[in-house]
Amino acid sequence: MSRSLQSVLVTGGSGFIGANFIRYLFEQPSFTGQVVNLDALTYAGNPANLADLADAYGGSRYHFKRGDIRDFETLADIFSRYEIDTVVHFAAESHVDRSILGPRVFIETNVLGTSNLLEAARAAWKDRADVLFHHVSTDEVFGSLGEAGFFSEETLYDPKSPYSASKAGSDHLVRSWAHTYGLPATISNCTNNYGPYQFPEKMIPIMILNILEGKPLPVYGDGKNIRDWLYVTDHAEAIWMIMNAGGAGETYLVGGENEWENLTLVETLCDKVAAAAGRPASKARELITFVSDRPGHDRRYAVDCRKVKNELGWAQRHSFSEGLDATIRWYMENTEWVEQVRSGEYQKWIEDNYGRR
Ligand code: NAD
Ligand code: TYD
Repeated sequence: MSRSLQSVLVTGGSGFIGANFIRYLFEQPSFTGQVVNLDALTYAGNPANLADLADAYGGSRYHFKRGDIRDFETLADIFSRYEIDTVVHFAAESHVDRSILGPRVFIETNVLGTSNLLEAARAAWKDRADVLFHHVSTDEVFGSLGEAGFFSEETLYDPKSPYSASKAGSDHLVRSWAHTYGLPATISNCTNNYGPYQFPEKMIPIMILNILEGKPLPVYGDGKNIRDWLYVTDHAEAIWMIMNAGGAGETYLVGGENEWENLTLVETLCDKVAAAAGRPASKARELITFVSDRPGHDRRYAVDCRKVKNELGWAQRHSFSEGLDATIRWYMENTEWVEQVRSGEYQKWIEDNYGRR
């Protein structure tokens, strides 16, 4: 049975990966349907990320709804009003450091919110087979690797932070709804993304902006933790391929095959940003500052992504060097966006509209 893919509910579409995904979707000639973007606009969600798309397709193929996945009535209304046949679920609290400072909202959104969404889909779809619930998750659910080895689709879950535990919980819920109720569902677990529109709390945008502003570059612990980095539109492409051809009930690991020690990456960013700004790299590197380690800091993540490559024909398109250059250029050219997401005014607007965190 082929999938409809005509009315796609994207949750968290105003965040970093969700916004890049919606942009990617509208660039695909084979995508002829509509998108409903449901986003609570937390501190991480920014309507400006899709303002041009809203102008181009607003009211016809693109619909924005401010709402919370913790609110079942909102979800039920969207499923019936827009005859949703596909869900791509990005909405989440996504930052490990914030989860350490305040885990409760991670459980509420990532676990309870996901269960709500699953229930809304089940109620709306009944036994339909031309529908799909795609859940976007992280490789952090598998815990931390030593120097060798990779996570695979068979790796047992061993999450270590409140963030990864909440994402692991949501993965288990999706699998259990597929197993128990026959909900057609797929899951992707991806490594660290980077690219335009990433909120400047994650490592790469923080470092780019601090280098440009001559501020200290906070490297946690000994700087030898390893992350695997993937350009965000390569992740979007993997999701689109899974939506089209991924098997119901299947999980796919997605990664950059691009592992970097944090310190080496920060040094590379110093060189690249300094070159782009016409400044000496040595001055930028002087900004590197070792700070206290993150509690429970996972040492290394890396995935074996042969399944998505061999079964669906996915491959990374962006080299790290090109992807970083494009990202650096984007942050240098979009100072208004940066000011907006960091300004006191914007934070006040969030507090007024969403409540204090
Ligand atoms: P993000 O924090 O930039 O965006 C999250 C979005 O979800 C925001 O727009 C926010 O407003 C929205 N949101 C939060 N709580 C909500 C709620 N209760 N109801 C509705 N909307 C809500 O996150 P991101 O980096 O774009 O990550 C998106 C998804 O991808 C997450 O599920 C994350 O776990 C997963 N993921 C992220 C990465 C990464 O490197 N960033 C890697 C693998 C998987
Ligand atoms: P981050 O972007 O928060 O992603 P995650 O924790 O989900 O992997 O962090 C990436 C790596 O960079 C991680 O090992 C923590 C480290 N890090 C720093 O050293 N300094 C920072 O300021 C930040 C935000 C992260």
